[in-house]
Amino acid sequence: MVNGLVAPKRKDPLADAGTPLSRRAREAGGQPIGELMHRALARPELISLAAGFVDQASLPVEATRVALEQVLAEATAGKAALQYGTTLGFPRLRELLLARMRAADPGLSAASLERVIVTAGSNQLLHLLADTLLDPGDIVLVAAPTYFVFLGALASVGARSLGVAADAQGLVPESLDERFAALARSSELSRVKAIYATSYFDNPSGASIERQRRPRIVDLVQRWSQQAKRTIYLIEDTAYRELRYEGQDLPSLRSLDATGEHVILTGSFSKSFSPGIRVGWGLLPPELVQPVCDQKQNIDFGSPNFNQHLMAAVLESGLFDPHVAELRGRYRQKLKAMLDAAERHLGKVPGASWQRPQGGLYVWLTLPPHVDAGLHGRLFQLALDAGVLYVPGEYCYPAEGPKAAKNTVRLSFGVQDEAGIARGMKALGEALAEVC
Ligand SMILES: Cc1ncc(COP(=O)(O)O)c(C=O)c1O
Repeated sequence: MVNGLVAPKRKDPLADAGTPLSRRAREAGGQPIGELMHRALARPELISLAAGFVDQASLPVEATRVALEQVLAEATAGKAALQYGTTLGFPRLRELLLARMRAADPGLSAASLERVIVTAGSNQLLHLLADTLLDPGDIVLVAAPTYFVFLGALASVGARSLGVAADAQGLVPESLDERFAALARSSELSRVKAIYATSYFDNPSGASIERQRRPRIVDLVQRWSQQAKRTIYLIEDTAYRELRYEGQDLPSLRSLDATGEHVILTGSFSKSFSPGIRVGWGLLPPELVQPVCDQKQNIDFGSPNFNQHLMAAVLESGLFDPHVAELRGRYRQKLKAMLDAAERHLGKVPGASWQRPQGGLYVWLTLPPHVDAGLHGRLFQLALDAGVLYVPGEYCYPAEGPKAAKNTVRLSFGVQDEAGIARGMKALGEALAEVC
């Protein structure tokens, strides 16, 4: 037990606990990350390098006000925005999204309007995909480490998440191939439904899939689909694509899938504009459009229409790109502050290393092998005492595959300003000095 910072003990999901909850509801409780965030909010004096929130100071109040006035400027159009929308989403926004996807990936083929869906954040689409594709016992291959919220979505539908090695260049194609081969040998290939990968500035590792690896990964998915005699999907999460601070943009995995039958692209305005508006999107293979819509029909038959009109106005009025340019400048400075502070306060710790991302919101730290950075380890307690909170990296590992590395930490430079980042990193360095 660390300062009471411990996840509630999980109940046996099958045990009868008086309150007649579903198995899924019982399985969903007690996630350590949820508890971590709860405690962070309860102790506002802590410097949180944990939360994946965006920079508060640069949230686009003025641009949103302008777009809002446009949406409501004329009564008929304003009323349309205040009415329910359609399941696939506001047609004008979908057109604008398609145009942006084409501009970002000039090689994009087989991308048409009927394949574009708008959701309440990309997280909703990830959940819809889990519901649409997966039965209990089905397998999804994910990078180890990966976005832990999606691991929760997989667990909630009873799917197995199986890790594939990833390094500073992202998912390792050889490891993916080996994993497929091993599953084929154990006659489990038929259970593999999808691969999930964040292709730009991953959460938590900050790594982007390297240029040469991209076509190889798409090719592997296509080849193993042939072997399995049905489609294995590659879910490409591009939530951080716009947040690049260095280097050239890379072609999406989706743009390398000529027919668009294997790669499902998910995107989001949460990081690049506002998570409060919470609009995400997807570019789906044709045969998934109706099944995903059928799921969505049962949930909300369309995401909040007003927010979609608002985002369409943001894009049409040219308010989006200048904001992203401003954000890039802001986060570039914050990333530099974190990397400088890491050098200063962790640089002398033997065995400590970190990756230098070119974008996104996270820095992934690997500590000496004997350091347990988990909620129950000494470092976490010492860091809390010193006033800093981080996400233990071990929670970002899938249930199966490469062993969860307890000596890893996810740091976010999204929320704190440069001074907060410097103070947080100093506190972390002091805590680390005590355990090393
Ligand atoms: C990798 C990744 N994908 C998807 C999301 C979901 O974002 P949203 O649902 O706000 O679009 C996040 C949020 O942190 C993320 O880190």
